[in-house]
Amino acid sequence: EAKYLKDYQTPDFFIPETELFFNLDDEHTLVRSKLQMKRNGEHTRGLVLDCQVKQVLRVLINGNQTDFNVEQEQLKIDVDLAEFELEIEVTVDPINNTALEGLYKSAGVFCTQCEAESFRRITPYLDRPDVLSVFTVTIFADAELYPHMLSNGNLIDSGLVTEDDDSNKQLRWVKWRDPHPKPSYLFALVAGDFDLLTDTFVTQSGRTVDLELFVDKGNLHLGHHAMASLVKSMAWDEQRYGLEYDLDKYMVVAVDFFNMGAMENKGLNVFNSKYVLADLNTATDIDYHGIEAVIGHEYFHNWTGNRVTCRDWFQLSLKEGLTVFRDQQFSADMGSEVIERISHANVMRTMQFAEDSGPMAHPIRPEKVIEMNNFYTVTVYDKGAEVIRMMHSLLGESGFRAGMDLYFKRHDGNAVTCDDFVSAMADANNKDLTQFQNWYSQAGTPSVVVSEKQTDTALELTLSQSLPTRPAAEQNKPLVIPVKYELLANSDGRSLERGTVIFDKTEQMFTFNCSEPVTLVLFENFSAPVKVQRTLTQEQLIHIVKYASDAFCRWDSMQSLWLQQINGASDTILDKSRQGLIEVIEYVLNNDDIETSIKAELLTIPSYTSIAETFDVINPSHILKVKAEITQQIIESLFETINALVQNLTNIEDGYIQSSVAQRRLKHILLTYLSHSKNSDVERLIRQVYLDSTNMTEKVSALESARVYSVALLDDLLKDMDTQFTDNVLVFDKMTSAVARIPHAEVYGKMALWAEHKLFSDKNPNRVRSLFGAFIMNNPEQFHDESGKGYQFLADFLKKMDKLNPQLASRMISPLLSWQRYEPARKDLMKQQLTQLSKLELSKDLYEKVSSALG
Ligand code: ARG
Ligand code: ZN
Repeated sequence: EAKYLKDYQTPDFFIPETELFFNLDDEHTLVRSKLQMKRNGEHTRGLVLDCQVKQVLRVLINGNQTDFNVEQEQLKIDVDLAEFELEIEVTVDPINNTALEGLYKSAGVFCTQCEAESFRRITPYLDRPDVLSVFTVTIFADAELYPHMLSNGNLIDSGLVTEDDDSNKQLRWVKWRDPHPKPSYLFALVAGDFDLLTDTFVTQSGRTVDLELFVDKGNLHLGHHAMASLVKSMAWDEQRYGLEYDLDKYMVVAVDFFNMGAMENKGLNVFNSKYVLADLNTATDIDYHGIEAVIGHEYFHNWTGNRVTCRDWFQLSLKEGLTVFRDQQFSADMGSEVIERISHANVMRTMQFAEDSGPMAHPIRPEKVIEMNNFYTVTVYDKGAEVIRMMHSLLGESGFRAGMDLYFKRHDGNAVTCDDFVSAMADANNKDLTQFQNWYSQAGTPSVVVSEKQTDTALELTLSQSLPTRPAAEQNKPLVIPVKYELLANSDGRSLERGTVIFDKTEQMFTFNCSEPVTLVLFENFSAPVKVQRTLTQEQLIHIVKYASDAFCRWDSMQSLWLQQINGASDTILDKSRQGLIEVIEYVLNNDDIETSIKAELLTIPSYTSIAETFDVINPSHILKVKAEITQQIIESLFETINALVQNLTNIEDGYIQSSVAQRRLKHILLTYLSHSKNSDVERLIRQVYLDSTNMTEKVSALESARVYSVALLDDLLKDMDTQFTDNVLVFDKMTSAVARIPHAEVYGKMALWAEHKLFSDKNPNRVRSLFGAFIMNNPEQFHDESGKGYQFLADFLKKMDKLNPQLASRMISPLLSWQRYEPARKDLMKQQLTQLSKLELSKDLYEKVSSALG
């Protein structure tokens, strides 16, 4: 049942016009489609439509009822006409749709999620992105229950009818038409009772666009940040790329039940409410940032995704990698470039590198897919964005922009491939990017081995590249890797030279002239998504921390200083060098020249996951033990210094303002150090932060510290929070995430208790991810406990979740997939759980992962 990129064929038919009629009903929604069909070419094959509806009632061709056949999720119709009108009537069952794909009803709202292949759950169709159609949609529904009935494009008509049964109920109908031809995955329908926040945006050419944000009743005050972010996104895309919005209306609907972050349906984005709703009392700085980024992301899709879409789903990174890159640029322009880069590097080095070394590793343009939902991955999205970024580095800002302009000029209104994108970039710049394209076809994280030799007159740098986790056949196609660098004088840290070298051979030497001893800074700004194998002394790393121009590399060297301690030389060397780490932390703490936001990053303790990813064989106990020891030593040496700094960070101005965000972040990092101390002053301090704060960021920071300090303290704060924020599900999610990360065995009892809370529901993905997702991903102490209890817990959970929501279950299996990376005992325990799962009847989603994990 796998599909292959190499088998791509153009569609047998096109559908220039699609008309849809919906009679909304909880269990029996009637969907009628009227499709103008046009044969593509001279062939005489019958019509085969993708079909996953509950029941097909009738099929008509040119008004005449005709035979049809439904098997294996296909609707087959015998027809040899070149052009005809096809009508199909089906029913679907939205209220029992817990998979949240296709048309579903949750919390009183009807909504749709069609990407990638769920339009076929609504009506039979050529459900593939290279079939573009103009959609006209009529919705009938109870006027009182569903005052807002929405679809893509423009509202062109509406009216009232009385139902022709005995009920005499008033039905309202609305008719929408989207003039832009689009593939079925961009279709959307929403019906419900909302509060509506409105604004307008005047485009660069002077058109006024109505902006409409739909939120649950009573939540209007929580929509302002999202709306402001939308306005910023629209202005940014005009300024940076010259791209203007193309409809008179832009609608965003926030729903509580959603599998992903959001969806870019043409003119009608559907959002997970987590990425819309915010105010100071209930949202953290991270939430504010996430809203701005996701609002931007979906808006930017209007050009990179909607106007120019994908030929087939193997090309997903064409729109996702590019749109993530664009939202990253946007976030950097709204805030800080280096803070953004640190967070991208963390995503790459933890989640993406793990995926790329595991059984589900795939190139950013996959070649084989069983369940497309499994390929909305950090590889396609984030590594995809890194690949776009490398093109940006190779071509420069204006060259990249010229490439984008040519891409739109050539392909506006079309469904195209990643090759088309790279060709536009190459042609606009008269560059040959043939070798660069290896990034699209090769999986695995490149490993770059660095060796350097200094003479009296030069530094000779030798780089070699390989894909250690990939088969030998992939090794002889070297990748094009832009390496941004700087030379620092050893004497006083002066910057002697900065630039970029292009590393595109298996092994290559670069010579830098210099007449004094230097330290080389490599991969500035994370210039390529690679693992660097380089031995630097502690002294060299500290030199970089102190003097590098690039703050990303200064942060990176701080991380390496930690890793040196954990990846471990012998104890005697360690004792002396641990003192060195403590001293550099002290240097950073006391240095008032370092910008607050950077200081916070420099002081951040590397996450368990980012440490684990640097080991060939992972032993969680070892990592956690050494990390705890170091933290303990730091806090013993520096308690007073850190405590004094925290005391200085009071009365931070509320609001999502860069300076306040930075101060709150620094305070959080410092508090995290303190929470590892048993000093009873710390308990008082945590309580004080919790009580004094008038924003959610500091409250969550207090929860996090309490979780480390003592479970009793955490319980106390949670109890208060639960009464202060009754019925607020987004705050509830923050509480359960803290609970799920309690690093002791009591976590199981606590999770069970919170799963009984009236706000918890295993049908809501946000609730499930916040509680169980946090345990699986962010509680290494318990999840990786040597008993194997954590693995068992995950397997039992997946068993149940797969029945309710396969897409969610499939996302949450990821930590088990890396089983081969662990030391023998855990490896065995993890494999046992995968084997258990493989014996069950699984969804396609989970089946694909479990079977690939077991090889
Ligand atoms: N295109 C959406 C986004 O990036 C993601 C939708 C994914 N949906 C899914 N069922 N996998 O922005
Ligand atoms: Zn996207």
